[in-house]
Amino acid sequence: MIHCLNSYDGRKSMRVKFTLTIGAIILMAMMSTGRADPAAGQAVFKARECVVCHYTEGPAREKTIEDQLTKKGPELWYAGDKFQADWLAGWLLDPKPIRPMKFNSLTEENAGDHPSLNAEEAATVGEYLMSLTSGEVKAGTVKVKRNSKGRQIFTKKMPCSGCHQYTGRKKVIAGGRSGPSLVDAGVRLNPDWILAYLKKPKVFKPIKMMPVFVGLLSDKDMANVASYVGNFKPKKK
Ligand code: HEC
Ligand code: HEC
Repeated sequence: MIHCLNSYDGRKSMRVKFTLTIGAIILMAMMSTGRADPAAGQAVFKARECVVCHYTEGPAREKTIEDQLTKKGPELWYAGDKFQADWLAGWLLDPKPIRPMKFNSLTEENAGDHPSLNAEEAATVGEYLMSLTSGEVKAGTVKVKRNSKGRQIFTKKMPCSGCHQYTGRKKVIAGGRSGPSLVDAGVRLNPDWILAYLKKPKVFKPIKMMPVFVGLLSDKDMANVASYVGNFKPKKK
């Protein structure tokens, strides 16, 4: 069969053309769906020394408080579960403080000096980071809305608001400053990840400053609070 094809030049060149056309179609499909090769972003991530402060391979490495305190930045091995792709690419281009306080500190302010990337780098690194997932987040479980049960939990029952900033009454920023700000959680975080994060602290944060709510909140209440937080939108400029 192969011998037969090779002996006819015309057919051979048709086969090459056919292969090239298929190749081009696949490439165009990849480009139009925005699914490029995460390896390009990974190369930039290494070249720009992001690896110095962030680890990107799971599972969680922290076993002791020391392990957490020696980290220079948040782990990114489940970035694709945690973030929304558009927010991530935008933040890499123009990183604004997420934690009001410096990473791992309760006394020093966040200096807002995170390295930034150019537009091309931000896009490919964003794609790379979005390819990193834990396999522990079920998509489509949390429906975001103005969830009054979630609000009760967040602001009164388990005051999440004691440690997290959010937009309170009269659009004034309220809440504590020891945890990451949740003011823009609705555009920054994946609501399904928020629920998984509350449910599976051992997977995402075996060592953490935030209390464990497993046993304190039912699965339903966790879903309510994830639905409420997932609806936080930043103020329009
Ligand atoms: C000197 C250490 C350091 C370097 C180098 C560094 N980062 Fe970070 N990164 C941090 C810290 C600290 C934070 C938390 C910032 C905040 O809360 O505002 C952070 C936050 C992030 C976040 C958000 C993570 C989260 O869970 O909130 C992403 C994404 C990120 N960095 C990507 C990168 C990329 C890409 C590079 C390379 C261009 C990079 N970082 C280089 C220290 C670093
Ligand atoms: C005692 C302070 C404290 C309380 C109370 C608290 N958190 Fe947190 N939370 C933190 C800290 C600190 C982090 C950063 C990770 C860590 O060290 O645990 C965090 C991380 C998070 C994150 C991830 C944010 C990010 O960008 O990485 C979410 C979502 C979150 N908390 C939601 C909640 C909800 C919902 C509640 C209430 C049910 C709550 N938190 C109660 C301190 C707190």
